[in-house]
Amino acid sequence: MHISNNSYLPGDKPHEKIIDEIIRVDHSGEYGAQKIYQGQILATKHLKKLCRKFNDTKYDRLINILQKMYDSEIPHYEFFQNLMNVRKSRPSLMLPVWSVFGFLTGYLTGIVGEKSAMALTVGVEDIIGHHYNEQLQIVKNIIDKNKKLNNNILLHELYSKIKQFMHDELEHLNIGIQYNTEKICGYFYFNMLVKSITKIAISIAKNV
Ligand SMILES: [Fe+2]
Ligand SMILES: [Fe+2]
Repeated sequence: MHISNNSYLPGDKPHEKIIDEIIRVDHSGEYGAQKIYQGQILATKHLKKLCRKFNDTKYDRLINILQKMYDSEIPHYEFFQNLMNVRKSRPSLMLPVWSVFGFLTGYLTGIVGEKSAMALTVGVEDIIGHHYNEQLQIVKNIIDKNKKLNNNILLHELYSKIKQFMHDELEHLNIGIQYNTEKICGYFYFNMLVKSITKIAISIAKNV
């Protein structure tokens, strides 16, 4: 996708700041999502190896599903990376932390089993779905308040991509729910913890 420099949001400092925050936090989130799936895929491959004498195909099925979800996160991440390049805005300074934390969280939930891996997805994607929905309202308000920017490619592109990504994340959420994740021991607390950490990560990435 190419966004010309002409699409740069002109003049309006607060709105520019808001847009940069949106791009930064989403870039971080999509980066973290990739790391989580990388950790879960590796853990499931290790589980498959450890349990090979049982010749259980569920590990292959899970790896396949996790790989598809990982693949769908790549264009999400690339879109925000591209926008940052165009706007010459900076990524979150916490990216190295998201990298380690995301991968470890993915690996640990993956090694426990498919239900805990998917329980993580359910918690994270639930919050991300709401987060993207809130951003859609914010971007729409900026577009509505600045009619002269109606031709602004960046804002309209951002709006439609966030809408598409929200749809993708809700698909991930639905895949996770199909694993009956609520049946794992301590699910309520795990779900609360995952949601709280995701919300904290979002607010940190906005500012740092
Ligand atoms: Fe994503
Ligand atoms: Fe996702």
